[in-house]
Amino acid sequence: MPSRRDLLRCAVVGVAVTTALGAGALAWSSTLLGEYSVMDMGGGDHGHDGHAAHGAVGAGASVASGTTGAAGEVDVTALTADPARPADVRVELVARQETIDVPGGRAVEGYTVNGESPGPEIRARQGDLVEVEFVNESVAAGATLHWHGIDVPNAADGVAGITQDAVPVGGRHVYRFEATDAGTYWYHSHQVSHEQVERGLLGAIVIDPAEPPAVAADLDVTALLHVYGGQHTLNGRAEDEQVTADPGSIVRVRVINSDQGTAAVWSAASFRVLATDGHEVNGPTEVEGQRVLIPAGGRADVAVRAPARGDAVRLHVGGARSIVIGDAAASAPKAPQPSETLDLLAYGDATPVGLDTSTPDRSFDYVIARRFGLMDGRPGNFWTINGRMFPDVPMFHVSEGDVVVMRIVNDSGDVHPMHLHGHHVVVLSRDDVAASGSPWWVDSLDVRPGESYEIAFVADNPGIWSDHCHTLPHAVDGLVAHVMYDGVTTPFTINGDAGNRPE
Ligand code: C2O
Ligand code: CU
Repeated sequence: MPSRRDLLRCAVVGVAVTTALGAGALAWSSTLLGEYSVMDMGGGDHGHDGHAAHGAVGAGASVASGTTGAAGEVDVTALTADPARPADVRVELVARQETIDVPGGRAVEGYTVNGESPGPEIRARQGDLVEVEFVNESVAAGATLHWHGIDVPNAADGVAGITQDAVPVGGRHVYRFEATDAGTYWYHSHQVSHEQVERGLLGAIVIDPAEPPAVAADLDVTALLHVYGGQHTLNGRAEDEQVTADPGSIVRVRVINSDQGTAAVWSAASFRVLATDGHEVNGPTEVEGQRVLIPAGGRADVAVRAPARGDAVRLHVGGARSIVIGDAAASAPKAPQPSETLDLLAYGDATPVGLDTSTPDRSFDYVIARRFGLMDGRPGNFWTINGRMFPDVPMFHVSEGDVVVMRIVNDSGDVHPMHLHGHHVVVLSRDDVAASGSPWWVDSLDVRPGESYEIAFVADNPGIWSDHCHTLPHAVDGLVAHVMYDGVTTPFTINGDAGNRPE
């Protein structure tokens, strides 16, 4: 196995130099990044970044100490589901670069999965072993599949240059994971993602619970929102949908926001929010006169009760589209979007989170700001994390079993939907106001300008995990950090021969 130093061959441009600082730390002084390993990022942060400021342990005891191949180290490709276990659900997904026909709108150039965008919805049952064979038929830049919100083993995370090489045209890659948590999720490419996701290389995946949920639904529908070349679509069509439902029946609408910005959901009728980002809300109450905001990448499952015979209710999803539920012959008028937003910090009934965050093993800061500078040779007004610009951004080192608390502060003037791979995080507080409702579990969290959130997670899924903004053009402009487990290494690189460009 090559050493970390071998993996890093920064392009020498002009007088660009790389400087080794101490034990493997790296100064990013080149103007072009060239080929690099994610493992070399944030090397200079050891001992004096956010976690040190909070007095967390182990800042120096990490893989960044500069050795590879030592006892106890594990390669990301070894972090898999049980290879001997046969699959319960097996799907083949074929990606193509082609024209997408948008029913109700105009055709756009983009990417399809099995000939359509969004691709087919994958449906599994909690506990199933899911196996997806991904085939890249014609996506010239290469492609991958990432399972957004699902805590897959690291080898199946689908991030080009970190957990695999981008699959070239004619190539295949098999993803295997156990569908441990029921809920609404989605999949998308994580190669040149700002372009491939925006242009349709995505689809829904729903994991049905093994046990009946607290609120049983009579009908279960998916509402995947996406904008294709300025056209707002619902499940790939630039039109509204009709769901015929008997009076009094409960319809569970799984809203997936695959866009680059926040989506609003509202109705003139009351509804309940049953789940956020795949996690059931404890004791969801009726929401009236308020909208629910779903961050980019996020999901909300809402329950709507079908009205009396001859009547229908309209659920607005994402501003431009809606679902009309009830009598097929009835119409329901549009309702103005409420200005008041449901506060998930205080929604539902409190119950123990099952996680003691009073003395966390690690505490990190993730402070987002922006400033003018050069990134990979490009001048611009770029995002910074803890005052540093990509790729000199923090690497959050954790050990398996750690309870991790992270404080996300937004000093940047723009909203950022923050997304950590491989883990569900629970919101502890916003602007120092403690969460008081149902445990609010998220994998995509809108942090608005001036806000600060305290979140927590258990480091229970070893690997190297991206922790980035899901407004993907922001990720390209540097709003990407990583959580790295001690002892985990990756053989993959970014910008090398495989052409890996995860963002
Ligand atoms: Cu939905 Cu790193 O992505
Ligand atoms: Cu952002």
